[in-house]
Amino acid sequence: MRHKSTILGIAASCLLALSTPLLAAGQATQEALPAAHKPVTAAACTDCHEAESKTHVFHGECTTCHVNAKSHASAESPRKVSPGQPKAEQCLTCHNKDSARLNFKFSDHHRAGVACASCHGVHAPKPVATSLALLKADTPSKLCATCHKDVLAKFNMPSHHPVQEGGVSCVGCHDPHSSKQVSLVSNTEQCLTCHQRIRGPFAFEHVPAAEDCANCHDPHGTPNRRLLVAAQPMLCLQCHALPNNRHGQTGSNATTPTALGQTISGAVLRNCSACHSQVHGSMQDEHLRY
Ligand code: HEC
Ligand code: HEC
Ligand code: HEC
Ligand code: HEC
Ligand code: HEC
Ligand code: HEC
Ligand code: HEC
Ligand code: HEC
Ligand code: HEC
Ligand code: HEC
Repeated sequence: MRHKSTILGIAASCLLALSTPLLAAGQATQEALPAAHKPVTAAACTDCHEAESKTHVFHGECTTCHVNAKSHASAESPRKVSPGQPKAEQCLTCHNKDSARLNFKFSDHHRAGVACASCHGVHAPKPVATSLALLKADTPSKLCATCHKDVLAKFNMPSHHPVQEGGVSCVGCHDPHSSKQVSLVSNTEQCLTCHQRIRGPFAFEHVPAAEDCANCHDPHGTPNRRLLVAAQPMLCLQCHALPNNRHGQTGSNATTPTALGQTISGAVLRNCSACHSQVHGSMQDEHLRY
């Protein structure tokens, strides 16, 4: 039985390469073989699995994906011989054109046991999904949210990227296939593709902004304005001790004397970026004020 599957596989992939309709693959192979060696074709499967035959759209022979189905199909009691589920490798024999997907096996998703078919309904995608990607949900974001509920919840916070409003999608920032972008090696590059205005190079960089936007912003959502991970001034004070020679004041609102006999005014503490407005980097001022 095995050599037949090989012949069928080769014939199918050759014909595929020539973009001939897949069904022709089965017929051509059948003619080339002696009658006694008829391969297991869709017809053999669909005798018992009518539903599936009607719901797979792009793909031809059942056995291109269900590579282990033959002994199942010809068994006396098929129910007892499980053909198993197709793995990513089967899909990738054909879907190997883009490098992101080729590296799928290195992705967090693959390592966590998420398969192509966890996201793509090869047989029965949600009927409303007119998307050619055959997703198992109406939109990519809804698909992601079926598993990442905790992340979705963050988009309900007061400051958030407009994912639920439809302005940005999870896949605008994450590539579900790529190993690189699922683990998000380069957050900053991703952000800058949309937020061009913040792109450097700056004469005076702010080191944490050049390093990683996520130092200060949670890309999903936060209780603080502008997606900040902490409110000002605490955000800044995590890394900066306030140099009181620059910010200290001796005005009438002085209450607690500092070591130098000066105090730091509440107004200064309220909003660092009111003065240091170029918090992402400046062309003119080393103190990031303008
Ligand atoms: C003689 C009838 C028969 C034929 C022919 C047949 N199957 Fe099945 N198949 C079954 C039965 C019975 C089950 C058990 C599950 C069920 O009740 O649907 C099953 C289950 C399956 C499953 C699900 C296994 C699982 O783990 O959930 C797949 C996939 C499958 N068949 C694929 C195929 C393919 C592909 C072919 C053609 C190569 C094929 N079958 C031919 C009867 C058949
Ligand atoms: C493009 C690859 C591909 C092709 C072609 C394909 N299948 Fe499947 N099939 C799958 C995947 C993947 C699953 C797992 C279902 C899931 O998780 O969505 C599956 C599941 C099934 C199941 C189990 C359904 C269930 O509800 O568990 C059956 C039965 C089945 N296929 C039969 C067929 C038959 C019959 C054909 C040919 C007419 C066929 N398949 C063609 C990929 C394919
Ligand atoms: C025998 C080759 C082959 C195999 C194996 C195969 N596919 Fe496909 N697939 C195709 C072809 C051909 C198309 C339609 C043309 C295209 O868009 O590339 C397609 C289309 C698709 C699409 C829609 C793509 C689009 O461009 O919108 C998805 C999603 C898909 N396949 C998923 C899968 C998954 C998941 C598997 C594994 C379970 C799989 N395929 C296995 C050949 C294959
Ligand atoms: C975590 C969910 C997820 C997994 C796992 C996944 N995909 Fe996708 N796939 C998507 C989403 C979402 C899109 C639509 C992307 C978009 O709209 O930009 C897509 C698009 C596609 C397309 C359409 C063409 C394209 O690149 O836009 C193909 C083909 C495809 N996936 C095949 C695969 C194959 C093969 C595997 C397994 C190796 C796989 N996918 C694994 C979510 C997934
Ligand atoms: C079938 C369930 C499932 C779906 C659907 C799914 N994921 Fe995942 N995802 C996981 C699992 C499991 C992990 C690995 C465990 C973890 O870190 O949560 C993971 C990991 C991730 C990671 C890496 C997490 C980390 O800690 O670095 C990102 C990013 C991610 N998924 C984004 C997406 C996006 C975007 C989509 C939609 C296109 C999506 N996922 C769809 C299950 C899923
Ligand atoms: C604006 C870009 C952006 C959008 C939109 C976005 N993400 Fe993320 N996501 C990121 C970045 C950047 C990180 C890494 C954060 C870090 O390094 O601290 C991340 C981290 C993650 C992680 C792993 C860490 C964690 O927080 O659990 C998961 C899972 C994830 N995102 C899923 C999703 C899902 C699901 C959606 C859609 C509902 C989504 N993301 C929308 C940029 C985005
Ligand atoms: C796919 C495009 C896209 C990407 C990628 C993206 N953003 Fe956004 N971002 C938007 C949109 C759209 C808005 C909403 C703009 C508005 O409301 O005017 C926004 C708004 C923001 C805001 C302002 C929120 C507010 O309350 O006003 C911040 C901060 C932000 N993004 C940071 C980031 C960071 C950090 C990253 C990288 C992790 C990132 N963005 C990646 C599209 C994107
Ligand atoms: C050192 C902390 C910090 C880092 C790192 C940082 N930001 Fe910000 N960002 C802020 C603060 C503070 C604000 C709010 C400014 C205000 O409105 O007072 C802000 C506001 C924004 C806004 C909305 C207002 C605007 O200027 O459009 C966007 C978009 C944004 N940041 C994107 C980014 C991107 C992209 C990166 C990475 C290149 C990044 N930020 C890195 C602190 C930071
Ligand atoms: C993750 C740590 C971190 C955070 C958070 C941070 N900074 Fe910085 N900041 C730095 C580093 C590192 C430098 C470079 C220090 C140097 O060159 O001595 C710097 C430099 C600066 C400078 C220029 C120093 C100078 O000599 O004039 C200013 C102004 C500044 N930060 C303001 C802020 C403000 C305002 C915030 C809050 C919105 C903030 N920083 C948040 C790490 C941080
Ligand atoms: C009222 C305007 C104002 C506010 C508000 C303000 N600063 Fe400044 N900051 C300045 C000025 C002015 C300088 C010094 C400029 C100079 O020396 O020419 C400065 C300098 C700095 C420097 C560089 C000091 C050095 O000597 O290297 C840092 C770091 C800094 N500020 C952080 C902060 C932080 C953090 C906050 C919020 C807690 C803050 N600033 C709030 C006006 C302000």
